Amino acid sequence: MRYLVIGSGGREHAIAWRLLHDGSATEVYVAPGNGGIDDRYRVAIAINDFESMYTFCKSKSIDVVVVGPEAPLVNGIVDFLHNKGIRVFGPTAKAAQLEGSKLFAKYIMQKYNVPTAQFREFKDKNDLLHYIESLTEYPIVIKLDGLAAGKGVGVCNTKHDAIQFINTMVNHDTRVFVEDFCAGEEASVLGISDGNTVLPFIAAQDHKRALDNDEGPNTGGMGAYAPAPIVDSRILGRVHREILQPVIQGMNKEGIPFAGILYAGIIIKDGMIKVLEFNVRFGDPETQVLLPLLNGKLGDYINAAIDGTLSSTNLSFRNKHAITVVLASGGYPGSYSTGLPIHGLDQIHNDILIFHAGTKREGNTIVTNGGRVLNVTAIADSLEEAYNKVYSVIPLLSFEGMHYRKDIGFRALKKRA
Ligand SMILES: Nc1ncnc2c1ncn2[C@@H]1O[C@H](COP(=O)(O)OP(=O)(O)O)[C@@H](O)[C@H]1O
Ligand SMILES: [Mg+2]
Repeated sequence: MRYLVIGSGGREHAIAWRLLHDGSATEVYVAPGNGGIDDRYRVAIAINDFESMYTFCKSKSIDVVVVGPEAPLVNGIVDFLHNKGIRVFGPTAKAAQLEGSKLFAKYIMQKYNVPTAQFREFKDKNDLLHYIESLTEYPIVIKLDGLAAGKGVGVCNTKHDAIQFINTMVNHDTRVFVEDFCAGEEASVLGISDGNTVLPFIAAQDHKRALDNDEGPNTGGMGAYAPAPIVDSRILGRVHREILQPVIQGMNKEGIPFAGILYAGIIIKDGMIKVLEFNVRFGDPETQVLLPLLNGKLGDYINAAIDGTLSSTNLSFRNKHAITVVLASGGYPGSYSTGLPIHGLDQIHNDILIFHAGTKREGNTIVTNGGRVLNVTAIADSLEEAYNKVYSVIPLLSFEGMHYRKDIGFRALKKRA
């Protein structure tokens, strides 16, 4: 089978790698891809150029399209390609509202009794400001409704922070809500769904802050590991029954069946599980640790999800541990230079996986081309071993200004120490 993967990050490199290496695919094209993708399979089409994606699919007889990022999903790429007869994995624009509109997700959760923080929507900025003035207990969380590339949530420790967030982020026509702050440990649980059945992946944990000990500014994600022991098999079963299944069934009842990856961002405290958000696609960098651990063929699951036959499919994972560490450009998540040569890639042996993100090829060298540059991934029998393995090879790699976190997996590793 021939696949087209849409996107340019580490997630898309991992999806393409997995489809090729487990025998799902004979060819995998990636649009627009990155320096990790062989030039013959790298397609220079922007993620929101649906018409060109369609033309490309026809010209290369693509069998299945897999959409990586949220923007084209929310913009309707699945509807567009499906209507033209192309098989495509991912939710329709309406179903993608679970990520595209945080309020839509809140109302679905409320209606179908899915555990999430109490919230209150504000249609008027002055009402919101009055409400904030009246609050005495902090922290609180203020969330903008639409896609905001990770900048639409304010966790506010004081009234002052809250007012500042509102004044910089909220206009008079911004849909916005306030929700209760939930303490606890976060994890990501992805499920693959065909619209009726949803099968959960093992849990992963991302590391959003730029610096060790979860300090510094927020980023797209500096590393991940799986499985995350905070989600033991009992908790995972509850996430399946109390969150993923009711949402999939609820969406069905609403007449908006959801097929694709439903990603629940959850927070756990003393056995209480709450949903912080949904994403409607593979997580980045969670995918880089989940796909290497998956048993079977990724393409079989994707096709079963498209065909509506997941109920007769088993999803299982290897009894191993994976860690991925993001090597980032100097200055990221602020401004950074690009075009810097990356050294040492040829010294990394085969049992380490390198998923490229912000890279490109320039002749025979790979140079930096983004904030998150490489995802260095190790698999081992224990998390400790995976940790030691990944951090022993990173010093072989370098580019000017490179920085990375030294503590990926620390929550799980501390618990065991
Ligand atoms: N109700 C909440 N209580 C505590 N922290 C929260 C809450 N909602 C969000 N957060 C924090 O803010 C981060 C971003 O919020 P999230 O809803 O995941 O939005 P997005 O990923 O779209 O920015 C979460 O990962 C979590 O750390
Ligand atoms: Mg999030």
